[in-house]
Amino acid sequence: MAKMRLKYKRILLKLSGEALQGKRGFGIDPVEVRDIAKRIKKVHNLGIEIAVVIGAGNIYRGGHESKKGIDRITADYMGMLATILNAVALQDALEKLNTPTRVLTAIEVKEIAEPFIKRRAVRHLEKGRIVIIAGGTGNPYFTTDTAAALRANEIGAQVLVKATKVNGVYTSDPVKNKNAKRLSKLSYLEVIKNKLKVMDLTAVSLCMENDLPIIVLSMKIPGNIANAVKGKNVGTIIS
Ligand code: GTP
Repeated sequence: MAKMRLKYKRILLKLSGEALQGKRGFGIDPVEVRDIAKRIKKVHNLGIEIAVVIGAGNIYRGGHESKKGIDRITADYMGMLATILNAVALQDALEKLNTPTRVLTAIEVKEIAEPFIKRRAVRHLEKGRIVIIAGGTGNPYFTTDTAAALRANEIGAQVLVKATKVNGVYTSDPVKNKNAKRLSKLSYLEVIKNKLKVMDLTAVSLCMENDLPIIVLSMKIPGNIANAVKGKNVGTIIS
């Protein structure tokens, strides 16, 4: 294979739980998971080391449920457990495509996955395995975006790629306003000051303190992640 110029060699991909639900609107749709796995595999084939952090919104929304009466901490732990279901589903889909994958969890479920140990995660990446990191940070009160920022820093990822429904940050909601313009660049402070809802503040501050760029993009656009790792202008880069 011809040597390709890559801007980033190790990335952390943050997927929302909703990405796995497909048209069902809830739970895990195997067709959708297979599609996501194929897209991840394509990026992996470029020789990029990939760690993935998945949310759980397709199964359980901790923050949301706690507002309806369930204890906040209990709800957060339920959300963390739900990320493990998503992680195992994605592992299954990736391994069916012959892509070696390891699931590492912040909450121990040793019969199902390895515990998250930073050195192990890095070693798996070096050996060409996709590492899916589940269970959030293992602590309540933190979102999976924050878990993604934390893990990206820990494993020495050069970029945090946040895959969402829209392809980046826009001047207004692109679904409602067709004149909305995509912002190709933003600073961390602009995101924080303007309370842009791309990521929560804890996640953004953690990236800012450690100079970790964030790229917000849509995975639905073919080749988007590959183009981002090649340094092309895709989605919005926050740095
Ligand atoms: P290397 O030692 O770097 O080659 O990594 P490896 O993951 O291939 O080796 P290891 O012998 O540690 O693991 C073999 C298999 O067991 C892999 O599929 C691991 O994901 C799995 N495994 C390792 N530790 C645990 C654990 O604590 N729980 C579970 N459920 N699986 C584990």
